[in-house]
Amino acid sequence: MARPLSWLLMLLLVLIWVLPIAGSATLPELCKSLNTLKARLHSGDRRQFMVRGCLYGGVGFDCNLQANLVLCTLQKHNFPLNYTVQVRPQEVFRLRNISKLMSMVPDLEIGDLQELWLLINQEVLKKVLQILPERHPSRHYVSSLQDLLRMVQQVFQQPQNGEHEEEERDPLEQIEQIWAQLRDPNSAVWKLMSPKALVDNCYRTMHCLFSDCFPSSNSDSKEHYCSILHWRKGKKQQTKDA
Ligand SMILES: *[C@@H]1O[C@H](CO)[C@@H](O)[C@H](O)[C@H]1NC(C)=O
Ligand SMILES: *[C@@H]1O[C@H](CO)[C@@H](O)[C@H](O)[C@H]1NC(C)=O
Repeated sequence: MARPLSWLLMLLLVLIWVLPIAGSATLPELCKSLNTLKARLHSGDRRQFMVRGCLYGGVGFDCNLQANLVLCTLQKHNFPLNYTVQVRPQEVFRLRNISKLMSMVPDLEIGDLQELWLLINQEVLKKVLQILPERHPSRHYVSSLQDLLRMVQQVFQQPQNGEHEEEERDPLEQIEQIWAQLRDPNSAVWKLMSPKALVDNCYRTMHCLFSDCFPSSNSDSKEHYCSILHWRKGKKQQTKDA
């Protein structure tokens, strides 16, 4: 008589333990892929591969750092002086955009912004790759960023148990509008941005939007990463995470 009862109890216990774990399994996984991306976006790499450094052919220099000067003389292929990429205005996605959207759109959820971040940065990397000559040393770097971002997206899109399936939200008008503009093949307005600035935007907004994945000594890391001041300070100190 006791047997079926104990089996039932076991089953119940298993269910109680397994369900919540399965439900939250995506966050650690998401953080893992985001941290891999973060490591690749390390400021040293960004500077080395994305810097608007030398005049093509090595005639002139506009390098801020001594190390870059050496790099520029050694590398035949480099970004031409003040090189810029043509992007849609919506592909310029900075910390300021996040705070602006949060204050403008009442029902905005962090997930909406995360989704936007994924789309925008995939477009941005595609554009940077398009302007790079075939044998450019930065090509490999940019395509590795693309792969890592795709991995983040895959994990991000995995359905989470419960939460998101239950109710379909009406799409938010302002966000829909940005998506449409990002997809508009006949966009008439373009912006010129340096590849480094675009990748810097990606790095900073990633910290702001996925702050749970980047614990910091600061108690309120969300506020911390979303503040422009944090990154200005970082720049001055030449920190690793600037
Ligand atoms: C590059 O940009 C800097 C600052 O924006 C400017 O002073 C400089 O003249 C530019 N160089 C060229 C070759 O366009
Ligand atoms: C970010 O702000 C800039 C300047 O205000 C704007 O041109 C751009 O479209 C905004 N980006 C997004 C994704 O809303």
